[in-house]
Amino acid sequence: MQDILVRSATVNDIAHIMDIEHESFCENVHEDITVFRDRITTFPDGFLVLEVAGHVCGYISSEIWNYSENVREDMFYLGHSITSVHDATGSELYVSSIGILKKYRGKGYGKLLFSELSSKVTEKYNISSMILIVSVQWMPAKKIYESDGFRETKRIHGFFNDMANSDAIVMRKYL
Ligand SMILES: CC(C)(COP(=O)(O)OP(=O)(O)OC[C@H]1O[C@@H](n2cnc3c(N)ncnc32)[C@H](O)[C@@H]1OP(=O)(O)O)[C@@H](O)C(=O)NCCC(=O)NCCS
Repeated sequence: MQDILVRSATVNDIAHIMDIEHESFCENVHEDITVFRDRITTFPDGFLVLEVAGHVCGYISSEIWNYSENVREDMFYLGHSITSVHDATGSELYVSSIGILKKYRGKGYGKLLFSELSSKVTEKYNISSMILIVSVQWMPAKKIYESDGFRETKRIHGFFNDMANSDAIVMRKYL
């Protein structure tokens, strides 16, 4: 049995987080180090890392938004700073990203991180819905969200700046 730990991230984890980010997303889709630093310092409860045998091999990050039924597209833009949108008194949890190092994928760690974040944040904050975007190409991620009860609310055509200019699916779950 592997030694598994899920804990809040600190800025000391940033190098590992960036390794995971670069392994998980292509060049035009991965986020800059400043975006991650702001996420950790602004909302540490919403940023978790997963350690296996003492090695950081996964992360998940989030923000709390004020609920709006029709979320503006620019709220999802890559590179936006958590500092401009996060409100700890808001009621919608936006899961901004999740990644697991390739060699640790397919072992249930992604699902574990996602459910740990959901329970940790919803216990402490006044959350009544969760929202996220996923590329049509990211099947394992989509599976995690669908099996957790998320449903598609809209598609943003050509949202991702990857080779295929992939569409984004906005998914939401009411608690
Ligand atoms: C998405 C990601 C974090 C999932 O992590 P993981 O630890 O591999 O996921 P899990 O092992 O918990 O599996 C989650 C689900 O995906 C399925 N899955 C795993 N690998 C798969 C694959 N290659 N193809 C299709 N489904 C797959 C699993 O069967 C499981 O579904 P199930 O519960 O119905 O069986 C990981 O694949 C990753 O880092 N991907 C790149 C970054 C990314 O796409 N992030 C999503 C941002 S929205």
